[in-house]
Amino acid sequence: MGKIVTIASGKGGMGKTTLAAELATALSRGGRRVIAVDTDSALRNLDMLLGVQDRVVYNLYDAVSGTCAFEDVPVACTPGGELSYLAVSGSDFGAPTLSENNFKIALAALARDYDTVLVDCAAGASALTRVALTVCDTALLLTAPDLLAIRDCEKIARFFTQYNPLADGYLIVNKVEPRAIEQGLAPDIDTIMDTVGLPLIALLPLDMNVPLLQNNVRRILGTGSPVAPQIEDLVRRLEGEQVALKKFW
Ligand SMILES: Nc1ncnc2c1ncn2[C@@H]1O[C@H](COP(=O)(O)OP(=O)(O)OP(=O)(O)O)[C@@H](O)[C@H]1O
Ligand SMILES: [Mg+2]
Repeated sequence: MGKIVTIASGKGGMGKTTLAAELATALSRGGRRVIAVDTDSALRNLDMLLGVQDRVVYNLYDAVSGTCAFEDVPVACTPGGELSYLAVSGSDFGAPTLSENNFKIALAALARDYDTVLVDCAAGASALTRVALTVCDTALLLTAPDLLAIRDCEKIARFFTQYNPLADGYLIVNKVEPRAIEQGLAPDIDTIMDTVGLPLIALLPLDMNVPLLQNNVRRILGTGSPVAPQIEDLVRRLEGEQVALKKFW
């Protein structure tokens, strides 16, 4: 049985999709069969970060409504099929979306077929995000060091710990600017951890090259970005290794 890993944040733009693409690629290179599940519909972009946007034909709603078979939905991102992408619903505004129950059933089915089911949630606490948080084995909750994002992340963390108390939940602080923290312009990491109430599994620095890399569908990993070594360590931690948090300032 594979593991379901849910990436959520509360506030938008925290780096969920960026991280989903990096983790999906890294875990699949490590020999796992990985499926990256995109719960965002109209505003999805994981397909673009994985470079498969022109090959997405069907989504889970199509399978459930009988337009295609379940097996027709995943799109192979690598020639060997180690990494696949799956859209939950259509990308048009107002496209019908999956019921919570069908999404739950689909995630369980994917966990039988893949080693890792990586769920990239939309911002907020939509019905599908709540399902993904309730059934996952591991939740990665992202925030930036800003008070609005931290408050939303805390709400998501509270929901997760209430409805899925036996799963592992971790905090990731992204877009960290050490100087802003040192100058008291942003909350420090201990305060963020105390507020969200989950153990910290990664600190990712702000790197203005990240959006530029993504314009060329390039992975952060392997590019010399200061984010890359932190993601490498995160991957090792997710694979069960004990890797100490490295300060990058
Ligand atoms: N560590 C980082 N440093 C600088 N920019 C980053 C970093 N991580 C992500 N970004 C940028 O932040 C923006 C939002 O990232 P992303 O789309 O991954 O967030 P998201 O949480 O998935 O957003 P949404 O809630 O809209 O789905 C993108 O332009 C991305 O390139
Ligand atoms: Mg996103």
